[in-house]
Order: sequence, then structure tokens, then C-alpha cells
Amino acid sequence: AGALDARYKQAAAEWAVDGFVQPGMVVGLGTGSTAAFAVQRLAALRAQGQLLDVVSVPTSRATESLARSLGVPLSTLEEHPSLDVTIDGADEVSPDLSLIKGGGGALLREKIVAQASQRVVIVVDASKLSPALGTRWHVPVEVLPFGWRSQQRYLESLGARVTVRQGSDGAPFLTDQGNLVLDCAFGPIDAPVPLALRLGARAGLVEHGLFLGIATDLVVAGPHGVEHRER
Ligand code: A5P
Repeated sequence: AGALDARYKQAAAEWAVDGFVQPGMVVGLGTGSTAAFAVQRLAALRAQGQLLDVVSVPTSRATESLARSLGVPLSTLEEHPSLDVTIDGADEVSPDLSLIKGGGGALLREKIVAQASQRVVIVVDASKLSPALGTRWHVPVEVLPFGWRSQQRYLESLGARVTVRQGSDGAPFLTDQGNLVLDCAFGPIDAPVPLALRLGARAGLVEHGLFLGIATDLVVAGPHGVEHRER
């Protein structure tokens, strides 16, 4: 399934770049293996002399170094506080284009960049589609190291089974901001909006991976080709 999924991820990402990125735009670059295909597409188009005046704002250090290595011009939200379009992946997508994001740990910058963008185009392979958020993925929650065990208790009180995300070295994973990620298994979430409000109301809980009302477009690729949906 892995190689096929990668083909679908690539197809969705390339379709989104070709369809949504116009000359002169400021483009948010998402994080993860699907968004990386979009960065590669931008670089390939530049090599053909297209979209040379497009500048990009990355959502993570990983994406920043990928874009830099491919010669894709980078900028910042300080320089461009509002973006034309962001192209990013997701871990789970529900029928109303609500998302779970943060599998790569970049949820905070991803949400900041998405909320600064006129259009937010989510690119996925068909395996990411889900009848209800929480069915196939946990909700990542970025917490400040200070008092993180209290946040764990709070999340458990909301019904989550909580695990501290580990890095590849066995030590706790740290975000680009130096925070922890608590992965919260809620099971299928009937009412994401009240849950998001509870998560948003808690001090020390820096950001959560529920992206509600943020995606404007979905590009999904699967065995039947590429499909585009608007919210
Ligand atoms: C990164 O923090 C996530 O939000 C990614 O967008 C998500 O994990 C998708 O990753 P893949 O495209 O690698 O599946």
C-alpha cells in the first residue's frame, strides 16, 4: 500500500500546485510527505521557468530546509502576513472537510499559516478520508513542558487515552517550539466543535490538531483518479 499511497499523495499535491498556484502568489508550504510533493512540484515548475515570482512561507523547519535545498524562494509571515494559498496534508479528513493534523508535529505553525491564508488546499490520498474525526487517528495536542502532567489529566478528563509522543531517539518528541506532543485517542468524535473549544480554553495547551472550518478545498487522489471538493 505504501508505494501506491505515495503515488496518490504525489498526484494530489501536483494537481493542487498546478490548479491553485498563480504567478505572483505568496504560498504557504505544509509539512509531511504529501506536502513535500507540492514543494517538489514548485521546484520543478521553477526549473521550467514558471512561477519564478512565487514566494513561500514554510510551516516547519523540515519544510524550510526541503524548500531551501530545492531552491524554492522562502519568506516569512512577518514579511507577508496574509497568504494567497496554503497547500498542506492532513492525517484525517471528514466529509465536511474538518481535519486532524499534526502527525508530523507541526500543527501550531500549520494552523497559524492556514489561518493567515485566503485559501487552504488540503492534499491527501484516499486512505485519509473518514466518516468522523478520531476514527483512524488520535488528536495531537502540543503542550508546554511546564505543567504537562496536569494537561494530561485534563485531556483524560475529556475522555482521551493519552500518550506522550516519542522521538526517534526514545526521548520525548519536541516541536519546533520546544514543546511536547500528547497524542490523544478519543475514538470517533461526535462533536468536534465543543471539544475544540475545551482544548482551546486550557492554559498550557498550546494548540491542538483539530482543524475545523479551516480547509477551503480538498484534493484527494485514489484508484479512481483525482477529485477536488470545496467546502
Ligand atoms: C504535519 O504536522 C501533519 O499535519 C501532516 O500534514 C500530516 O501528518 C500528513 O502527513 P503525510 O502527508 O506524510 O501523510
